[in-house]
Amino acid sequence: MLILKTDPLNHKFNIAIFASGTGTNARKIIEHFINHNSVKIALVVSNKADAGVLQIAKEFRIPSLIIEKETFFRGNAYLNELHAAQINFIVLAGFLWKIPSALIAAYPNKIINIHPALLPKYGGKGMYGHFVHEAVIDSKEKESGITIHYVDDKYDHGNIIFQTTCPVLPNDTPDDLANRIHVLEHAHYPKIIEKCLSE
Ligand code: GAR
Repeated sequence: MLILKTDPLNHKFNIAIFASGTGTNARKIIEHFINHNSVKIALVVSNKADAGVLQIAKEFRIPSLIIEKETFFRGNAYLNELHAAQINFIVLAGFLWKIPSALIAAYPNKIINIHPALLPKYGGKGMYGHFVHEAVIDSKEKESGITIHYVDDKYDHGNIIFQTTCPVLPNDTPDDLANRIHVLEHAHYPKIIEKCLSE
C-alpha cells in the first residue's frame, strides 16, 4: 500500500526511482539526495515484490509501490499514484520493464535511465545486467562503460546525456566487468541526475 506523508520542506523535485533488482544504484541516489534542499526521493517503484530495492526504501523510510503488468501496460500506468506522490521526475535504476507510452507522454524528457554499456551498442530488448556484460566479453571489446539517457518508447534509445568508459580486461568474467561498471554508475548517476534537474 502507498502511504504518503506531507512534505514540510516542499521540495521542488520529487523523484520516483523505478528498480527491479538489488538497488545498489538506488541506494547511492537516495544517499546523495538525503537532506537536499530541493530534491526528494519521494517514491520507490518496483515490479518485483521481493526486490532488494524495497528493503532499501524501507531502511530510508521512503514510500514504495509494487506495480503489476496489467495496470502498468494496459491501465493508466499508475499515473494516479505518481501524481498523488507529486512525482515530477522519474529515474530508472535497473528497471527491466519497458516504459509505456502513457507514462512517457505524462513525463516528457523527465524520465532517465542508466544502461551498463556504451549505447547504441549492446542495448535493446533482453539486454540487461549480466546479458550485457556477457555480450561485451563475447565480442572481445576492449572497452565498455555506462550510458545515461532520456527514455523514449524504444528500449535503450532516447537522447544520450552522459557516457564514460572503462577497460575490458583479457580475463574478465561478466561479474568482474559488472563490478567495474557498478563503480562508474555509483560515481556518476547521482551527479548526472542533479545536473539534469538544474537544466
Ligand atoms: C545496473 O548495472 C544498471 O545499469 C542495469 O541494471 C543494473 C542494476 O543494478 N540496467 C540495465 O541493464 C537496464 N537495461 P543495481 O540493482 O545494483 O542498481
